[in-house]
Amino acid sequence: MTGNRLRLLTAGDSHGSLLLGILDGMPAGVPFSAAAVDGYLWRRQGGVGRGARMKIERDRAEIVSGMWKGRTSGAPVGMTIENRSRIPQDRLPIRTVPRPGHADLTGMLKHGLDDANPAIERSSARETAMRVALGAVVHALLRELGIAVFGHVVSIGGIEASADRSDWEALVHARDRSSLYCADPSAEPAMLARIEEARERQETLGGVAEVVALGVPPGLGSYSQWDTRLEASLAGALLSIQSVKAAAIGDGAATAGEFGRGAQDEIFWDGGITRRTNRAGGIEGGISNGEPIVARAWFKPISTQRRPLRSVDLATGEETECRYIRSDTLVVPAGSVVAESMVALAVADALLAKLGGDHVDDTRAALDAYLARIPWERPALPTILTEPPMPPPAPVEAPAEET
Ligand SMILES: Cc1cc2nc3c(=O)[nH]c(=O)nc-3n(C[C@H](O)[C@H](O)[C@H](O)COP(=O)(O)O)c2cc1C
Repeated sequence: MTGNRLRLLTAGDSHGSLLLGILDGMPAGVPFSAAAVDGYLWRRQGGVGRGARMKIERDRAEIVSGMWKGRTSGAPVGMTIENRSRIPQDRLPIRTVPRPGHADLTGMLKHGLDDANPAIERSSARETAMRVALGAVVHALLRELGIAVFGHVVSIGGIEASADRSDWEALVHARDRSSLYCADPSAEPAMLARIEEARERQETLGGVAEVVALGVPPGLGSYSQWDTRLEASLAGALLSIQSVKAAAIGDGAATAGEFGRGAQDEIFWDGGITRRTNRAGGIEGGISNGEPIVARAWFKPISTQRRPLRSVDLATGEETECRYIRSDTLVVPAGSVVAESMVALAVADALLAKLGGDHVDDTRAALDAYLARIPWERPALPTILTEPPMPPPAPVEAPAEET
């Protein structure tokens, strides 16, 4: 990433006892509590299209280090999330037929596995629960510095939404009313019909999530080297998410096919620099330009298929069919929450690279001094984004299975 200041690490298997996570490089003094994680985890588990597992689990993170009396301490933030859907290793059926579109074959070849389970367990997107939990700490840091990051779904199975980007507050409220995390209510019926159609055909779907970062000051990232350009960090962060196969900044994908003049954002003066368009998605020359950062992630359709795909039994060399493993139909709404965390991480890393700070007050002082010398006015954040999302009350826990 741009700054190499923040480092997010996870460990743990999909059906192991728990997920482990470490966020290193956080400044001290950021107010935070485990409750501030719940709403993000709940949103990752929600959305139309998730499978049975999401009904089994209601994720809760436990903070085990890096906090002191309600604030980050400057030490690595450590967290755990228990898996409620646990399967002991010796009860997982041996899998010698790799599923196309998963890490089964690549993991088996790379690590010399004669059973795909270790690859399946670790490559699973269950791991993204921890990215979202640690991401909640990053969101808390950004909020302290006047920056908010949120995602919404802009396309499912080829059905496009057209969200109104002139009113972010209304957009986020509309997203929160949608079971698809889509801010365009007029697109939702067609999206839901498409999902139903996919289910009937025993098919899966993909789509596109957009993540917006508001309040990002100009000057994050650098054109000086290829690996310090902000869009490179953002795209890498988004492409690191399981099943994301393309990423774009602003209207990047669309403008490639257009004449150039209309693809620019002309610069105006209104007591400070202003723009009337943001086709560049808030980044020019590898550096944030003060406009909202807008990044998109394209999720491929889920690989796991109810109607079996052909593969090869690596134990015998015979061509055969894959066995179905419990799976979602669509991950884009949940994926949009993971994408929020990854964009927040890339932005925060670039911010800390520019401003430094071992305590958040130092970072804030450096930001204020910097903003005092540039003609950029910090935008007011939508009220809904000034607090972490809140989950509804937890359901009554089902008694543990006894057999
Ligand atoms: C939140 C989330 C949930 C996912 N759930 C599933 C799933 O239930 N079934 C599935 O086949 N793929 C699922 N995926 C995608 C796979 O994890 C991914 O396709 C697989 O690990 C191979 O990685 P790749 O697609 O990036 O090459 C999910 C992805 C995300 C982001």
